[in-house]
Amino acid sequence: MDTQARTTIIEPLEGCLTGSVHVPGDKSISHRAVLFAAMAEGTTRLSGVLDSDDVRSSVRAVQQLGARVALEKMADGSLAGGITGWGAQGPRTPDGPIDCGNSGTTARLLMGVLAPWDIEVELTGDESLRRRPMARVTAPLSRMGARFFPEGAATLPLTVRGTRSLRAAKYDSPIASAQVKTAVLLAGVGAEGTTCVTEPSPSRNHTELMLPLFGVPTTAASGVAQVCGSAPMHACEVEVPGDPSSAAFLACAAALKPGSAIQIEGVSLNPARIGFLRTLEQMGVDASRRGVSSSGKELSGIVSVRYCDDLHGCEVPAEKIASLVDEVPALSLVAAHARGITVFREVGELRVKETDRIAAVIDGLGLLGVNAWMDGNDLYIEGNPGLQVPEGLRLSSGGDHRLAMTWALAGLVSESAVVVEDFEAVSASYPGFLGDIRSLVRRA
Ligand code: S3P
Repeated sequence: MDTQARTTIIEPLEGCLTGSVHVPGDKSISHRAVLFAAMAEGTTRLSGVLDSDDVRSSVRAVQQLGARVALEKMADGSLAGGITGWGAQGPRTPDGPIDCGNSGTTARLLMGVLAPWDIEVELTGDESLRRRPMARVTAPLSRMGARFFPEGAATLPLTVRGTRSLRAAKYDSPIASAQVKTAVLLAGVGAEGTTCVTEPSPSRNHTELMLPLFGVPTTAASGVAQVCGSAPMHACEVEVPGDPSSAAFLACAAALKPGSAIQIEGVSLNPARIGFLRTLEQMGVDASRRGVSSSGKELSGIVSVRYCDDLHGCEVPAEKIASLVDEVPALSLVAAHARGITVFREVGELRVKETDRIAAVIDGLGLLGVNAWMDGNDLYIEGNPGLQVPEGLRLSSGGDHRLAMTWALAGLVSESAVVVEDFEAVSASYPGFLGDIRSLVRRA
């Protein structure tokens, strides 16, 4: 690998991928563990926490708000230790704005954390985060009694002014978004009465699984979640399993690299997160999971994936998108190598991720010589079996970690190197991505 002025040359893998690997802690669960520990009374013990830029944004935020964080780096690269929360005393007014960096989860979840307190906090973020829509969270929280300034602001920077007399709400969310659901539920934890969120299809349910560990009465059914407000949150122990969204990149690499057969261990097998396995299977890949054990109430186990020499296109229906929302770029690359057309239904939400991932996937695949297009909110990819990247190909991550890994993958499984601009964006979720994938290479 040769890195020069924010471009990284990704050389093809020198052999097939074999053996086992552990992926780092789940990003969504790590954010929640850090934020919920900060809200609780006492010291929560955490292990397996992802050490990445995004999670560090949440850690810094809770420190600014008065939580005491004593997390240390472990030999496996994870963070472990204690967080002593503000509990019934509430968060303190920070000494300046909270910079959420690139992390939408930090910004949106914090709005819910802060809503039930008489406190004014300015939230901001990097250029990408400052473009992302926030009204989806400020609207329901405003109905509960929180206020946001400047009035009507739909993007960061904005100031949250919470209130001790927050009203519980029944919120029918127009989008399947775990960030929206979680922000409303966290606000509901500090409101009198029952707060309930319904969504069009079930988004990831880590919040509903974790809140009861902290003593919050929570009920959840497919597409509906509710919390009983005003129960004090108490410290507990949280063990974070491996991130299926990181595992997905290794799984896609194995599916594409001839001769590969890998196992990814200790991965969250939460059904709301492993839609990518089903899609790989539908494309003809031998992908399975086993050894399911439970850490807290999150299921985890081993994912096994083998190379597939007969990939074919498939259709991913709208109601499955939430279970693989972050995996669409990587799966699009697999689809680009498959026979026939793959369609991802109703993926308009991808336009407002860290970048416009629809535009980026269509443009990037176009440079690979693959035809991809949108029809309404459906993404179509016409695969090209035997696809090889053109020599000297340059692709940009646009500062988006999932695109950085997708474009790196294009080069890793090809016969020519690709140059990825801004590959460093991987540090948002998977700083060790290249090291992990290269650790699986069996040289001939
Ligand atoms: C996340 C929810 C999803 C996902 C994001 C993490 C979370 O976003 O894309 O990477 O931790 O709740 P949306 O809630 O916008 O769908």
